[in-house]
Amino acid sequence: MTTIKFTVNGQAQSLDIDPTTPLLWTLRDHLQMTGTKFGCGIGMCGACTVHLNGNATRSCLIPVQAVDGADIATIEGLSESGDHILQKLWVELNVPQCGYCQSGVLMAAADLLKRIPNPSDEEIDANISNICRCGTYPRIREGIRRAAQ
Ligand code: FES
Repeated sequence: MTTIKFTVNGQAQSLDIDPTTPLLWTLRDHLQMTGTKFGCGIGMCGACTVHLNGNATRSCLIPVQAVDGADIATIEGLSESGDHILQKLWVELNVPQCGYCQSGVLMAAADLLKRIPNPSDEEIDANISNICRCGTYPRIREGIRRAAQ
Protein backbone atom coordinates (compact mmCIF):
# COMPACT_ATOMS: atom_id res chain seq x y z
CA MET A 1 0.00 0.00 0.00
CA THR A 2 1.09 3.52 -0.79
CA THR A 3 -0.47 6.85 0.12
CA ILE A 4 -1.54 8.68 -3.04
CA LYS A 5 -2.85 12.24 -2.91
CA PHE A 6 -4.71 13.95 -5.71
CA THR A 7 -7.83 16.00 -6.30
CA VAL A 8 -11.06 14.78 -7.89
CA ASN A 9 -13.48 17.46 -9.05
CA GLY A 10 -11.68 19.95 -6.83
CA GLN A 11 -11.81 17.82 -3.68
CA ALA A 12 -8.58 16.64 -2.09
CA GLN A 13 -8.25 12.86 -1.80
CA SER A 14 -5.72 10.79 0.11
CA LEU A 15 -5.84 7.02 -0.34
CA ASP A 16 -3.78 4.16 1.04
CA ILE A 17 -3.93 1.95 -2.01
CA ASP A 18 -2.05 -0.54 -4.17
CA PRO A 19 -0.23 1.97 -6.42
CA THR A 20 -0.81 -0.20 -9.49
CA THR A 21 -4.61 0.08 -9.17
CA PRO A 22 -5.98 1.62 -12.35
CA LEU A 23 -7.43 5.09 -11.87
CA LEU A 24 -10.75 3.77 -13.21
CA TRP A 25 -11.11 1.29 -10.35
CA THR A 26 -9.76 3.81 -7.85
CA LEU A 27 -12.60 6.13 -8.77
CA ARG A 28 -15.27 3.44 -8.88
CA ASP A 29 -14.30 1.14 -6.00
CA HIS A 30 -12.42 3.41 -3.61
CA LEU A 31 -14.20 6.73 -4.12
CA GLN A 32 -17.64 5.35 -5.14
CA MET A 33 -17.67 7.57 -8.22
CA THR A 34 -19.39 5.20 -10.59
CA GLY A 35 -20.16 7.65 -13.38
CA THR A 36 -16.89 6.63 -15.03
CA LYS A 37 -17.54 3.33 -16.80
CA PHE A 38 -15.59 0.17 -17.56
CA GLY A 39 -15.85 -0.99 -21.14
CA CYS A 40 -12.77 -2.73 -22.45
CA GLY A 41 -10.02 -2.12 -19.90
CA ILE A 42 -7.40 -1.81 -22.65
CA GLY A 43 -7.73 1.80 -23.70
CA MET A 44 -9.82 1.15 -26.80
CA CYS A 45 -13.42 2.16 -26.06
CA GLY A 46 -13.23 5.44 -24.11
CA ALA A 47 -16.01 4.59 -21.64
CA CYS A 48 -13.57 5.37 -18.82
CA THR A 49 -12.56 8.83 -20.07
CA VAL A 50 -11.78 11.43 -17.40
CA HIS A 51 -9.74 14.62 -17.45
CA LEU A 52 -6.21 14.33 -16.05
CA ASN A 53 -4.77 17.80 -15.47
CA GLY A 54 -7.34 19.06 -17.97
CA ASN A 55 -6.75 16.52 -20.73
CA ALA A 56 -9.07 13.68 -21.73
CA THR A 57 -7.47 10.44 -20.56
CA ARG A 58 -8.53 6.79 -20.51
CA SER A 59 -8.50 6.02 -16.83
CA CYS A 60 -8.32 2.24 -17.27
CA LEU A 61 -4.73 2.63 -18.50
CA ILE A 62 -3.45 4.92 -15.74
CA PRO A 63 -2.10 3.39 -12.51
CA VAL A 64 -3.15 5.54 -9.58
CA GLN A 65 0.50 6.14 -8.68
CA ALA A 66 0.77 8.17 -11.90
CA VAL A 67 -1.81 10.69 -10.66
CA ASP A 68 -0.10 11.52 -7.36
CA GLY A 69 -0.46 15.31 -7.09
CA ALA A 70 -2.68 15.54 -10.18
CA ASP A 71 -6.09 17.08 -10.75
CA ILE A 72 -8.77 14.68 -11.97
CA ALA A 73 -12.19 15.64 -13.27
CA THR A 74 -14.93 13.07 -13.78
CA ILE A 75 -18.43 13.21 -15.21
CA GLU A 76 -19.67 13.95 -11.68
CA GLY A 77 -17.68 17.18 -11.81
CA LEU A 78 -18.53 18.31 -15.34
CA SER A 79 -21.20 20.54 -13.81
CA GLU A 80 -22.77 20.97 -10.39
CA SER A 81 -26.26 19.90 -11.41
CA GLY A 82 -26.09 18.36 -14.86
CA ASP A 83 -26.47 21.70 -16.59
CA HIS A 84 -23.24 21.82 -18.57
CA ILE A 85 -24.12 22.90 -22.12
CA LEU A 86 -23.19 19.45 -23.41
CA GLN A 87 -25.34 17.68 -20.82
CA LYS A 88 -28.31 19.92 -21.63
CA LEU A 89 -27.91 19.27 -25.35
CA TRP A 90 -27.48 15.52 -24.76
CA VAL A 91 -30.94 15.57 -23.14
CA GLU A 92 -32.51 17.91 -25.70
CA LEU A 93 -31.21 15.90 -28.67
CA ASN A 94 -31.75 12.47 -27.07
CA VAL A 95 -28.11 11.67 -27.79
CA PRO A 96 -27.85 8.56 -25.58
CA GLN A 97 -29.56 5.30 -26.43
CA CYS A 98 -28.49 2.87 -23.72
CA GLY A 99 -26.28 5.63 -22.31
CA TYR A 100 -23.50 3.42 -20.97
CA CYS A 101 -20.68 5.03 -22.95
CA GLN A 102 -21.94 8.59 -22.79
CA SER A 103 -20.17 9.84 -19.67
CA GLY A 104 -16.90 9.04 -21.44
CA VAL A 105 -18.15 10.67 -24.64
CA LEU A 106 -19.15 13.81 -22.73
CA MET A 107 -15.74 14.09 -21.10
CA ALA A 108 -14.05 13.64 -24.48
CA ALA A 109 -16.39 16.21 -26.06
CA ALA A 110 -15.75 18.77 -23.30
CA ASP A 111 -12.02 18.34 -23.81
CA LEU A 112 -12.39 18.71 -27.59
CA LEU A 113 -14.37 21.97 -27.28
CA LYS A 114 -11.70 23.38 -24.99
CA ARG A 115 -9.00 22.66 -27.56
CA ILE A 116 -11.04 23.32 -30.74
CA PRO A 117 -13.96 25.65 -29.93
CA ASN A 118 -15.75 25.17 -33.27
CA PRO A 119 -14.74 21.76 -34.61
CA SER A 120 -15.64 20.46 -38.07
CA ASP A 121 -17.21 17.01 -38.42
CA GLU A 122 -13.80 15.75 -39.50
CA GLU A 123 -12.21 17.20 -36.37
CA ILE A 124 -14.96 15.69 -34.21
CA ASP A 125 -14.41 12.27 -35.77
CA ALA A 126 -10.64 12.57 -35.46
CA ASN A 127 -10.79 13.56 -31.79
CA ILE A 128 -13.72 11.57 -30.42
CA SER A 129 -12.65 7.96 -30.85
CA ASN A 130 -15.00 6.65 -28.15
CA ILE A 131 -16.96 3.59 -29.20
CA CYS A 132 -20.76 3.62 -28.95
CA ARG A 133 -22.35 0.25 -29.66
CA CYS A 134 -25.74 1.96 -30.12
CA GLY A 135 -24.27 4.02 -32.97
CA THR A 136 -25.20 7.44 -31.61
CA TYR A 137 -22.37 9.10 -33.55
CA PRO A 138 -24.60 11.40 -35.67
CA ARG A 139 -26.28 12.76 -32.52
CA ILE A 140 -22.92 13.11 -30.76
CA ARG A 141 -21.70 15.24 -33.69
CA GLU A 142 -24.90 17.29 -33.61
CA GLY A 143 -24.58 17.89 -29.86
CA ILE A 144 -20.99 19.05 -30.21
CA ARG A 145 -21.85 21.27 -33.20
CA ARG A 146 -24.72 22.88 -31.26
CA ALA A 147 -22.55 23.38 -28.17
CA ALA A 148 -20.00 25.17 -30.33
CA GLN A 149 -22.55 27.76 -31.56
FE1 FES B 1 -10.88 2.30 -20.70
FE2 FES B 1 -12.32 1.03 -22.57
S1 FES B 1 -12.50 0.91 -20.39
S2 FES B 1 -10.83 2.59 -22.85
